[in-house]
Amino acid sequence: MHKQAVALVGLGSYLPPQRITNEALCERLDTTDEWITSRTGIRSRHWAGPGVATGDLAVEAGHRALKSAGLAAGPDAVDLVVLATTTPDHPCPATAPDVASRLGLGPVPAYDIAAVCSGFLYALAAASAHITAGLARRALVIGAETYSTILDPADRTTNVIFGDGAGAVVLSAAPGDDEDGLLLGMDLGSDGAGRDLITIPAGGSRQRATPGTAVDDDRYFTMHGKQVFTQAVNRMTESSQTVLDQLGWEADQVDWLVGHQANVRILNAVARGLGIPPERAVINLDRVGNTSAASIPLALADAASNGSLVSGARVLLTAFGGGLTWGAVALTWPDITAV
Ligand code: COA
Repeated sequence: MHKQAVALVGLGSYLPPQRITNEALCERLDTTDEWITSRTGIRSRHWAGPGVATGDLAVEAGHRALKSAGLAAGPDAVDLVVLATTTPDHPCPATAPDVASRLGLGPVPAYDIAAVCSGFLYALAAASAHITAGLARRALVIGAETYSTILDPADRTTNVIFGDGAGAVVLSAAPGDDEDGLLLGMDLGSDGAGRDLITIPAGGSRQRATPGTAVDDDRYFTMHGKQVFTQAVNRMTESSQTVLDQLGWEADQVDWLVGHQANVRILNAVARGLGIPPERAVINLDRVGNTSAASIPLALADAASNGSLVSGARVLLTAFGGGLTWGAVALTWPDITAV
């Protein structure tokens, strides 16, 4: 039986207006612009102001992605919404139904995916599978985060790295299997043995918030930077290589490597490991930091807007995150305008 092809047909992104420079962080944390820039490549990030939640950023990015796809927000726009986030508006219910409702998308299925920094690729795979299975014709896939709400204000390591933002794409059943924009190969993986490397200890059923329990410090995001660094390089390199092998692509056939924007040293190491020249790795973390599930669509939007990504380009996406989770996706770039 012919497998239904899936294409990316729209891309939108949104950053909250408040820009936080390294200098601003140095005013309240024991750190320097030199340390942050040389160890991470990050110069500034955006943080949502008080009262602004992940769903608000997701609605903005979703609206823009629909516009980029030439779709009017309404009940016929898409048949599915998948939202990847580590920072949902509430522990219960999921944020996606609210986002779908606020976009006026009608009674479509809508659910969240929790795969931390790999979330967008997991969401892309899930939505693509709905379309391939004939359960949907078009899907809105969003990655949105407000990490500023889960950072320990006293933790210099995490404060300098993470930023807020949202990016979204529209996927559609494609009429043929040779047009630009097609998703061509995918690989996903996980290893729960590494669960403690990236975690928010409290707030779930493992560490319950009962009256009188001192859980305050445990509600913040924590990570073991050095081990995460090594795992991120190895897993993204391996997963990317798996997808290249699936497609029979050589490294020099990849026009753009769009890796999860965790750290410029991680991205350079992944490119080196694959044999892709570092100048073909898309970098926007200098301006947005690590935005977790929003990272890849924000990097795509940046590269599409500055003219790097052109129609027909061969693009390799890869991500790594808490869980541990990882993945890679290959596609050709469509003829679209990012909004
Ligand atoms: N400013 C100044 N010093 C800092 C600092 C900051 N913002 N953050 C940490 N340090 C200190 C550490 O306390 C440590 O001091 P010590 O040696 O006295 O203990 C020192 O810098 C070196 O820390 P180290 O962990 O060796 O640095 P590093 O080169 O590994 O860089 C990270 C730290 C966090 C930037 C790096 O490990 C990293 O990027 N890890 C991956 C993080 C990530 O991407 N997470 C999400 C993955 S999806």
